[in-house]
Amino acid sequence: MLNRRNWMVGAVALPAAAQAQTAGKPKNIVISSANGLTCCDIAMSWIRSGKDTLDAVVAGVNVNELDPNDNSVGYGGLPNEEGVVELDACVMHGPTRRAGSVASIRGIKTPSKIAKLVMEETDHVMLAGEGALRFAKAMGFTEENLLTEKSRLAFLVWKRTLKDQNGHSNWSDGVDAPPGKSPKALLRLFPNVDEETLAWAHEMAVRPPTGTINCLALNEKGEMSGCTTTSGLAWKLPGRVGDSPIIGAGLYVDQEVGAAGSTGRGEENIRTAGAHTIVENMRHGMSPAEAVMDALKRVSRNYDHDLKRLDKFDINFYALRKDGAFAGGSLWSGQMRGTGFVSRQFAVNDGTGNSRLMDCAYLHERRRP
Ligand code: GLY
Repeated sequence: MLNRRNWMVGAVALPAAAQAQTAGKPKNIVISSANGLTCCDIAMSWIRSGKDTLDAVVAGVNVNELDPNDNSVGYGGLPNEEGVVELDACVMHGPTRRAGSVASIRGIKTPSKIAKLVMEETDHVMLAGEGALRFAKAMGFTEENLLTEKSRLAFLVWKRTLKDQNGHSNWSDGVDAPPGKSPKALLRLFPNVDEETLAWAHEMAVRPPTGTINCLALNEKGEMSGCTTTSGLAWKLPGRVGDSPIIGAGLYVDQEVGAAGSTGRGEENIRTAGAHTIVENMRHGMSPAEAVMDALKRVSRNYDHDLKRLDKFDINFYALRKDGAFAGGSLWSGQMRGTGFVSRQFAVNDGTGNSRLMDCAYLHERRRP
């Protein structure tokens, strides 16, 4: 059952922390998930130089897609259960009301660019898997290996942590296989890897993250666009598609109202069509923070507000209204993972300087560290 105290904590935390209200004319604003400080800087610089809002957000998220150290997006993203990186991305362009998307695409570092090309160059909205890769190649992109040494290490450590119902694994702790599940044993197995990197790999293995970047932009002319891009859930079944490429879940833009997006466990967002829900909430008069909080309540309601089950995942929503008001909201007050992948913060650039992090509102209070 929903704990009234938790409910109230979320409600009380809402207005001060996560909401920036403005009124009147639109202005230049870019917001993103917390991993997008540089992304927002770049998108804002493009907007200030008069570039299209969609070009701006795609240029911004490209930084994360190409960053081998962002293990939740693009190149360096954590792979599926077969060790292959599969990426999801989508874009929406407010001025033309068009959208493009790719799901489960392999071998392309910047899936946001392919999603934009699907929008611009085809009569479709979404391409998936092999077809998406073939389209990317036809558009001149080169197929590349997206697995970095670091993400390959995390994959091997994940393999070693697996066991069947009898406690058996072909990778570790068998008759012939070396002992290898504990962080200490891993140090012996990977003598050339430093302790910190191994600890990170172990954390990724036992608690698969669902990072992602969502970026939303508004310019002074009232034009809005958005992009969401991800490597999805680590160790997923091949072909698993999350919310990020789903128009209306991972992203929705209607520049007559506003834009919204999400990071975190995509399955929950798909079930609530979160981004579309938030935009429609704003259309019917809710503030961005109220709209985000309503979407989080819908996620919570899908588990009858059972906090024990809800505690197994994180999800964030972000909203930007056509007048520049914005908000970020998290299901939980504290991070479950300790990984930084689903942060309780979000990034903002209002055109007056460098991007900064702001706290999300939250629905439930997570009491343990
Ligand atoms: N939100 C990213 C995913 O679940 O794939």
